[in-house]
Amino acid sequence: MEGMHIPVLVKEVIDFLRCESSGVYVDCTIGDGGHSYAILSRSAPGGMVVGIDQDIEALKYAKERLSCFKERVIFIHDNFCNIKEILKRINILKVDGILLDLGVSSRQLDSAERGFSFSHDAPLDMRMDRRRGISAADLVNDLSFKDLLGILRRYGEERWSYRIVKAIVREREAHPIRSTSQLADIVKSVIPISYRSKKIHPATKTFQALRIEVNKELTVLEEVLRDAVDLLNHGSRICVISFHSLEDRIVKEIFRGMERECSCPSEIPVCMCRGKRTLRGLTKKPVIPSEDEISINPRSRSAKLRVAERL
Ligand SMILES: C[S@@+](CC[C@H](N)C(=O)[O-])C[C@H]1O[C@@H](n2cnc3c(N)ncnc32)[C@H](O)[C@@H]1O
Repeated sequence: MEGMHIPVLVKEVIDFLRCESSGVYVDCTIGDGGHSYAILSRSAPGGMVVGIDQDIEALKYAKERLSCFKERVIFIHDNFCNIKEILKRINILKVDGILLDLGVSSRQLDSAERGFSFSHDAPLDMRMDRRRGISAADLVNDLSFKDLLGILRRYGEERWSYRIVKAIVREREAHPIRSTSQLADIVKSVIPISYRSKKIHPATKTFQALRIEVNKELTVLEEVLRDAVDLLNHGSRICVISFHSLEDRIVKEIFRGMERECSCPSEIPVCMCRGKRTLRGLTKKPVIPSEDEISINPRSRSAKLRVAERL
């Protein structure tokens, strides 16, 4: 299929998940279905996948690709932060493995009209779920100078944030900023030539920051991790693939916290699990793609996989 997303670290994920024919696995970010395909193949003939995506178009491709597995896959159009309600709705109480492969897929990035990339001129949208939320154009045109600056600094860690936001505000006073190229040109115009990288587009960090804010990516990640761990059977594993340091830090810190403490709700006066640890980390350092994988799929170069096991 043209434009298909190449899944990253597939062998590593499959080995960590130890897929079995009696298992139920949740792919929280099914995308084009690459990881799910591998999970279903490894867990044949009986293993099941609940595949979640908030992008209806991604689900369309996943359904086509995974049609050969018939009723072994359940497709859910929702945000993964609702994982508990989703599983309750389909009468699943516990699962044998969970995968989150964060961010956007190559198909979303390469699909011009979605507005995720400065490589195509398109409306500045960036919403993964186009049924709801605020587009990147709305943020850029409506937020105050201070709020926009905060987003670029926090989520883009952009050194030139102040200059960029000043230029955005100047431009939007003349006419609204509606397209990806318009924004990319504004950013490019204020970053000194001597600081521009040959490999990375000057607007990369600005686009990343806006995408994170539009999709509330860090907030939903924090929400889903605790709920996901609660849903794991004892001895089952959660795998998280992240693509930038902000995500990786959240995964590392939440896993570390759960490796130390129990997860009983604070309103329970006497701790139910008597302070037992909830998780055992299996990756002291994150697993990263091999040189071979990066040469075949350059987009995998920033991937980091962290895995933990429910105790
Ligand atoms: C990197 S891709 C996953 C690719 C997939 N593993 C594969 O093999 O094709 C990430 C996918 O997760 C989806 N996604 C990102 N955040 C999400 C969220 N909060 N809830 C549900 N889906 C999400 C995106 O729409 C995208 O399709």
